[in-house]
Amino acid sequence: MAHSATKSMFFTLLAVAFVSCMKFACPNYLSTARFSQLPLSIILPLLPLILYFLTSIVARSSASKNLPPGPVSYPLFGNWLQVGNDLNHRLLASLSQTYGAVFLLKLGSKNLAVVSDPELANQVLHAQGVEFGSRPRNVVFDIFTGGGQDMVFTVYGEHWRKMRRIMTLPFFTNKVVNQYSNSWEQEMDLVVEDIKDNEKVRTEGIVIRKRLQLMLYNIMYRMMFDARFQSQEDPLFVQATRFNSERSRLAQSFEYNYGDFIPWLRPFLRGYLNKCRDLQQRRLAFFNSYFIEERRKTMASNGEKHKISCAMDHIIHAQMKGEISEENVLYIVENINVAAIETTLWSMEWAIAELVNHPTVPGEDQR
Ligand code: HEM
Repeated sequence: MAHSATKSMFFTLLAVAFVSCMKFACPNYLSTARFSQLPLSIILPLLPLILYFLTSIVARSSASKNLPPGPVSYPLFGNWLQVGNDLNHRLLASLSQTYGAVFLLKLGSKNLAVVSDPELANQVLHAQGVEFGSRPRNVVFDIFTGGGQDMVFTVYGEHWRKMRRIMTLPFFTNKVVNQYSNSWEQEMDLVVEDIKDNEKVRTEGIVIRKRLQLMLYNIMYRMMFDARFQSQEDPLFVQATRFNSERSRLAQSFEYNYGDFIPWLRPFLRGYLNKCRDLQQRRLAFFNSYFIEERRKTMASNGEKHKISCAMDHIIHAQMKGEISEENVLYIVENINVAAIETTLWSMEWAIAELVNHPTVPGEDQR
């Protein structure tokens, strides 16, 4: 951004110098010829932009020798106006028919290389995985991850590996599946019982999504904190779901793309980013005071011989050994709330919507 600002300041000065020299060297020229038809007040502000566009085109054409092919991109916007906010897999697949297995999209100031070939995907994800190990953060994800203090968006390196090692044991092993599968089944049985026993369900119907959301939170919060929510009206459940869905909305909205892709428009994002910061602060304070601190107290009350009885205890234990910081602990909780809960909820919602829209399919499957 600093680079772009310097560039446009340079061109503004250049434009002012150019017009001043013209005025000095040929005082009559600017007032005669075709210049006189365009007032200086219009030319002057536009000059830096025109010069900026021209140098961008020249820079792009000299750099493009090493870049993959791609649709023609326009100054400032790149290909953004062509692809819009609809950068989905179908559109990318159709573009790869024209431009090949590796092609380049420019979104504002960002270059995006798209790979549409199994062998090349293997190169990116596996053979050269180290090079591609870090997920790029944008302006909003910088806020929601505390500048990469989490596990998902941290930069590839020693700390990246440590965070993954610490999270694997309490979340991603067969032992965990065996240890918790009974509690998962209990939570599922409770959904079926609730639906069967509730007279209202028979007469008025039920928004199944909400009940499944409670099930999912209870499955994950039991694993994470050895805690569960009593009902959909439980005030902590209401707060947790509000915080998480607002976080997803703000992080995945198209509203801030213009400032993310075109850095010099970032000053206009100030209000949006402040909203993100405010939510982030309240959401992390909520996780900390109602769940993490509770686990710390339980562990402290058992002294040196504290028993590790849920994922958070493992993670706090790693922090007590000095492997990670308190912030890392907090951001791991943030990550799991999104990576485990929101994803699964959206997948279930999608599956339900498909069933509702294609009511005969389950029957066909069973035949
Ligand atoms: C239907 C449910 C789920 C979907 C659709 C889903 C999808 C994904 C996707 C697409 C990625 C990115 C993979 C990549 O960048 O290569 C990912 C990563 C991840 N998921 Fe899931 N996920 C689901 C459930 C879960 C659950 C239940 C957990 C935790 C218990 C979880 C934890 C994670 C974590 C920690 C990462 C980051 C891994 C890393 O960077 O090393 N996800 N998930």
